[in-house]
Amino acid sequence: RRAQPALADLAGRHVVISAGGTREPLDPVRFLGNRSSGKQGYALARTAVARGARVTLIAANTELADPAGADVVRVETARQLHEAVLKAAADADALVMAAAVADFRPARYATGKIKKKDGEEPAPLELVRNPDILAELSAARPHAGQIVVGFAAETDDVLANGRAKLARKGCDLLVVNEVGEHKAFGSEENEAVVLAPDGTQTPVPYGPKEALADVVWDLVAQRW
Ligand code: CTP
Ligand code: CA
Repeated sequence: RRAQPALADLAGRHVVISAGGTREPLDPVRFLGNRSSGKQGYALARTAVARGARVTLIAANTELADPAGADVVRVETARQLHEAVLKAAADADALVMAAAVADFRPARYATGKIKKKDGEEPAPLELVRNPDILAELSAARPHAGQIVVGFAAETDDVLANGRAKLARKGCDLLVVNEVGEHKAFGSEENEAVVLAPDGTQTPVPYGPKEALADVVWDLVAQRW
């Protein structure tokens, strides 16, 4: 596939990809975050550009070079990501949610730095739910024919958890990774199985994130 970048099978399509991990601020200097590097989302963006798509990459707190040819929108929090995805997905043929979205955010933001006081225990941290962007966009497609793809990192019974999540989210494809101690965040490689609601599963062997990205675009293109 990568030896033939002239094969523009995604030409005329607009695809929206979220990448990275959201940060939920506690005060001006602190946040709740996660370890997502954004590499899988950037690989999706590069391969989509190579295959001829118009690409909007919504990047949450990544430290990677902008993929040539993609429109990059930068966000920090889950609520900013939600807003950016809603806007970009309005005319999109595919939405791929590769970003790690914080499920919860601090209930309150302190406009001044939180200080400790002598002899006082810290106050418990109250959290509230963030919007579920994937579930919401899957349920309310801006137009028929938009393909929505989710990602999930699972442990234990990875396939059963993935199947349940696919049904819960209502998306067209769910890319499921197994996470464990030997499968570090930020690596250049990935191994996954792509689940579809018709019961099919497409295993993708351990390899570069571009290879997984190309399989995702193959499966999306089949569904168009
Ligand atoms: N996702 C989202 N909005 C959220 C949380 C997750 O759009 N608030 C998307 C992610 O981008 C990913 C997919 O949903 O594509 C699965 O994320 P995951 O965290 O595995 O799903 P959750 O429903 O939050 O399940 P869990 O309780 O296992 O974290
Ligand atoms: Ca989650």
